[in-house]
Amino acid sequence: MAQPLDGKTVVLGVTGSIACYKAADLASKLVQSGAAVKVMLSHSARKFVSPLTFSGITNQPVITDLFEDEQGSGIGHINLANQADILVAAPSTANLIAKLSNGIADDAFTTTVLASKAPLLLAPAMDGNMYQNVAFQRNLKAIKQMGAYVLGPAKGRLASGMTGYGRMVEIPELLENILWIVGKDGDLRGRKVVVTAGGTQEAIDPVRFIGNRSSGKMGYAVAIAARNRGASVVLISAPTNLPKPAGIALTSVTTSHEMLVAVLAATDKADAVIMAAAPADFRPSAVSRTKIKKTMKQWDLPLERTEDILSQIDDSVVKVGFAAETNDLIRYAKSKLSKKGAHLFVANDITNPGSGFGTDTNQVTLLDPEGHQERLPLLDKHDVADHILDRVANLLPGAN
Ligand code: CTP
Repeated sequence: MAQPLDGKTVVLGVTGSIACYKAADLASKLVQSGAAVKVMLSHSARKFVSPLTFSGITNQPVITDLFEDEQGSGIGHINLANQADILVAAPSTANLIAKLSNGIADDAFTTTVLASKAPLLLAPAMDGNMYQNVAFQRNLKAIKQMGAYVLGPAKGRLASGMTGYGRMVEIPELLENILWIVGKDGDLRGRKVVVTAGGTQEAIDPVRFIGNRSSGKMGYAVAIAARNRGASVVLISAPTNLPKPAGIALTSVTTSHEMLVAVLAATDKADAVIMAAAPADFRPSAVSRTKIKKTMKQWDLPLERTEDILSQIDDSVVKVGFAAETNDLIRYAKSKLSKKGAHLFVANDITNPGSGFGTDTNQVTLLDPEGHQERLPLLDKHDVADHILDRVANLLPGAN
């Protein structure tokens, strides 16, 4: 299975902070994502963690000294500076940021940063008072202006016992940002992709609504995969339990009508719209402003049709729809494809194990207007997303 960082090199600089132990987890996650991870430990970091921890995790030599490299040539940092797809400093001390913002290169990592054109991501970690220090704030502002990505620090309990800003951000957040930054040169670079996700909620009264079982997982997977391939992504999401992905413009909506308005606004200048959401097809004809009491024996709730969103999108944009069915999958999907003027439909039978709502996997068939059908195996939703985007990439104007 392809990993998002296959073929990529990450140079991970680790500097002296209590948060050093978290860097081992980051190195491990990066290796699991397919990256070659070259770790550089500062002198102070070695007081907190051992090079052996990182060489064991990355299966690569760990660099602790500017003049120590695999070839013994003394220019290993220059080679690494050229090979790197991203330079990450996690944790990043106040001292490291002071050095980098002033172009100081006095150890392996700072020298590599100075010699590299790769993007730089810093995850500061320090005591709360150090974070507030005027000199540090000046250096932080300078390094941001120089184009570095800075994540955090987060607020919370610090090693000193104080509560405040100074904690290194959590590893999943760092990993997501690395995928986003490294993916910027991907095959969807310069493209705008609108993705919808989740099930809408149509209010009956202030307490109740009509909803559906869509978890949003498929739509979020498509949005994240498009971001990781360099697209500028607008994610229009109905309520879900999923965290906001990094590097994606998120518009939260509740009702089908709100989703329609948001999609039509975002579609302007978009290259593709991928409608993974399950917008409600019916809404209560009237919404009660007060809670409806159960005084009646039976409740006949009048419903009216909502607008179909996909049908209203201009077909100069690549339009992708989803059909989640319990029976006659291909027949229904074909009919929706043509009725809604879509360029691609993703059909799945929700009664199949592993393909229902809320699962992490999906087994889908891709259908196009020419009548081609491609049945994919049961895959993780992120892999399904990449298959869909491969097809979208080929449909975009200017694609070969
Ligand atoms: N869709 C839409 N607007 C709606 C309802 C659905 O744009 N009001 C989109 C969905 O996001 C999906 C596709 O149309 O990409 C098919 O949705 P689905 O619910 O399967 O089909 P419906 O057209 O609603 O038909 P039915 O509910 O009768 O199966």
